Amino acid sequence: MSLSICLLAAEVAPLSKTGGLADVAGALSKYLATAGHDVRLFTPLYASIDQSRFPMRPIDGLQHVPLQIGPHHYVFSVVTTRLAGSDALVYLIDCPVLYGRPAIYTTDPDEHLRFLAFTRAVLAACQRMRWSPQILHCNDWHTAFGPLFVKAQLASEPLFARTRSVLTIHNIGYQGILGAAAIADLDLGPKSHLLHQDELRAGTINPLRHGILYADAITTVSPTHALEICTDEYGMGLQDSLRMRRDALTGILNGVDYHIWDPRNDRYLPEHYDSDTLSIKTELKRALIERLGLTTSATIPLAGMVSRLASQKGIELMFESLPQVLEWRDLGFVALGSGEPQYERFLAELAQSFPGRVVFRQGYDDELSHWIEAACDMFLMPSLYEPCGLNQMYSLRYGTVPIVRRTGGLADSVEHYVPDTGQGTGIVFNDFNSAALEWALNTALDLYDEPSQWTQMVRNGMARDFSWERQGRRYVEIYRSLISAR
Ligand code: ADP
Ligand code: GLC
Repeated sequence: MSLSICLLAAEVAPLSKTGGLADVAGALSKYLATAGHDVRLFTPLYASIDQSRFPMRPIDGLQHVPLQIGPHHYVFSVVTTRLAGSDALVYLIDCPVLYGRPAIYTTDPDEHLRFLAFTRAVLAACQRMRWSPQILHCNDWHTAFGPLFVKAQLASEPLFARTRSVLTIHNIGYQGILGAAAIADLDLGPKSHLLHQDELRAGTINPLRHGILYADAITTVSPTHALEICTDEYGMGLQDSLRMRRDALTGILNGVDYHIWDPRNDRYLPEHYDSDTLSIKTELKRALIERLGLTTSATIPLAGMVSRLASQKGIELMFESLPQVLEWRDLGFVALGSGEPQYERFLAELAQSFPGRVVFRQGYDDELSHWIEAACDMFLMPSLYEPCGLNQMYSLRYGTVPIVRRTGGLADSVEHYVPDTGQGTGIVFNDFNSAALEWALNTALDLYDEPSQWTQMVRNGMARDFSWERQGRRYVEIYRSLISAR
């Protein structure tokens, strides 16, 4: 039986992207559409979306719709476009006052209104389309009030009476906390008692917590992270609510869209390769070395990193370990990313200290991110926490050995290589400190010096399958269990 699924995401690749949420929202909806479900993926129409690349079609009956959010009055329209290579339609909420800004996320005082209005507009669009979603699937804090809005206000309408809600937590580190004064913007009226009262008294409202409290099912993006977020160490203050709802919480590892992330068909690469044609990977390495102006040769190992430069990503573990390793061993390093100034400064200074061996490209560059995956030998992800992480799974497919800390989805997707058995796909370290990362880097470099071991590890990784065909099914199982539990 085909299901009707309304997916809400603040970013969707390739339209708008700052991180993995975009990749997952786009790929999951493609999977669901291919599996025959009526999936409608909603996202804001940001000014940064290139409408010449993605032609938009207005939807009849959804133009110039008034929307009241507390005392604020907005008008929105809905346009659609298709995701390449699939029947999946994306519905974009067009409201230039809210989304016509230079960046996807802002620190503007009305940031919460941008996403409250988005969530409300999606529900209003369902009403106007007379479309009854069986599943309302919200993602992260931006849309986490969706389940509460359905329960408190819409469940009495025939259209939503059978709707069940899912909240996926991609990143518990971002909760979108509001001051209690914003209570009027939630328009809950007499249902305001449903808000978390202790928090209200303390002067705050936490969108993500309300998603956790009211969603019919909660998922996060790896089995290990589902356990982690119930602990004081990783729960970021939400562990009590998560423990209370433990029975509704599941961890589902993200999938990889191999139409986009596979060296056998990567659209950015001039030549393609697989595990039988690894000499082409070496050619690509040569080309990247030349393009970046590195002075290392193709026989010297090249490590890469592509990352938001946020404290989550463990960049500070590199502060001591990376200069040490670069001092003592032959290694090239290319980093692409942007974010917090102290991490950008560290990488810029590292490039200055090791000219010709280290390159830092500050910014966001989709094409270069694919090249780094393809041309490097190793890929660094020493994360403090990592709900899933996509780049380590991309790296495995590209034969680029991931060096990761054993946390969240990194622990669930990379297996430490054991030379005696020839089993394993990468280098995994446990402790969050520089010495542990230094050990991991040295272990990788030692293995690189043993070509047969290295090739074995690379091939093991390339054979792993994290496709959405596997992971997407798990979401459908959850959707179905909610519907049949009615
Ligand atoms: P997160 O969502 O926490 O940022 P993920 O590993 O799940 O981490 O996903 C990150 C995604 O964003 C990957 O597709 C990665 O290639 C991409 N990405 C991150 N930073 C950049 C950048 N500076 N340029 C291009 N792509 C980037
Ligand atoms: C988040 C997490 C990342 C995850 C991504 C997609 O931003 O930091 O680990 O892969 O969302 O789920």
